[in-house]
Amino acid sequence: MSAADTLPEQAALEAQKIWDLPTRVFHWLLVLCFAGAWLTAESERTQLLHLTLGYCAGALVLWRVMWGVVGSRYALFGDFVRSPAAALRYLQAYLPGSTLEAPRRYLGHNPAGGWAVLGLLGLMAAAVASGWWAYQSGAPDTAGEAHEVLSHALLLLIVLHVLAVVATGFKHRENLVRAMWTGRKRALPEQGIRSPHVLTGLLLFAAVTWLGWALYAGRLPGLTA
Ligand code: HEM
Ligand code: HEM
Repeated sequence: MSAADTLPEQAALEAQKIWDLPTRVFHWLLVLCFAGAWLTAESERTQLLHLTLGYCAGALVLWRVMWGVVGSRYALFGDFVRSPAAALRYLQAYLPGSTLEAPRRYLGHNPAGGWAVLGLLGLMAAAVASGWWAYQSGAPDTAGEAHEVLSHALLLLIVLHVLAVVATGFKHRENLVRAMWTGRKRALPEQGIRSPHVLTGLLLFAAVTWLGWALYAGRLPGLTA
C-alpha cells in the first residue's frame, strides 16, 4: 500500500472519482439479485425468478473477478487484498484501549474490507453453485441443505458488511454508501481514477439485464421451472 492511498482526515479535499461505473453497477445489481433471489426462494410459483436472479448474481461475480484484474485502480485486487495480518491489525486498532495507531481512512477498500469483499464474492459463487447443484439433482437433501446453509452464511456476512460500512462511515464522518452510488470521495486530484469507464458500466448493465430477460423468457437452455 502506498501512502497516497490513505489520507489525513482534516485535509481540505475535493470530491474525486474513486469507484468506476462498472464497479457501482456491479454492486447495486448484485444487491438487487441477492435480495430478489432471497425473496423468491420459498415459493414454487417464483422459482423461475429465483433461478434467473441467482444466475445473474453468478454472472456478476464472474465479471467482478475479471474486473479485479483489468479494472481501474481501486477496483483491482492488487489495490485491496492485503495480508491477513494487516487486516487483523486494522481491526485491532478499533478495540477500546488499543495501543495501535487509530485506523486510517482508505480511499479504496480498507484491509479488513478487502477480505470481506473476497468473502462476499466467494460465498455468492458458492451459493449459486450449490443452487445449481440442487436444481440439477431435483434438490435431494444434501444439495438443498448445502444451498440453504451457504445462502444463510452469505446473508450473515452481508449483515456484517453493512454494519461495517456504517461504522467506518461514522468513524471517518463520510457517507460511504453515497460514495458507492456516485463514485466520489474526498481526495487529492491525483488520487482520482483517470476514467470512470462509463461505456463498460453501461455495457455491463445491458448484458446482465439481457441475461436476466433471456433466462426468464426461456430464450436460453437450462431453465424450465
Ligand atoms: C446483497 C447485499 C450486498 C452484497 C452482496 C454486497 C457486496 C459488496 C461487495 C462485493 C463490495 C465490493 C465492491 C467492489 O469492489 O466491487 C461491496 C462494497 C460496498 N458495499 Fe456492499 N453489498 C451488499 C449490500 C450493501 C448495502 C445494503 C449497502 C449499503 C448500506 C452496501 C454498501 C457498500 C459500500 C459503501 C461498499 C464500499 C465499501 C468501501 O468503501 O470499502 N452494500 N459490497
Ligand atoms: C444469490 C443466489 C441465491 C440465493 C441467495 C439463494 C437462496 C436460496 C434459499 C434461502 C433457499 C431455501 C428456500 C427454503 O427455505 O426452502 C433456496 C432454495 C433453492 N434454490 Fe436458491 N439461491 C440462490 C441461487 C440459486 C441458483 C443459481 C439456483 C439454481 C440454478 C437455485 C436453486 C434453488 C433450488 C432448486 C432451491 C430449492 C432447494 C430445496 O428444495 O431444498 N438457487 N435458495
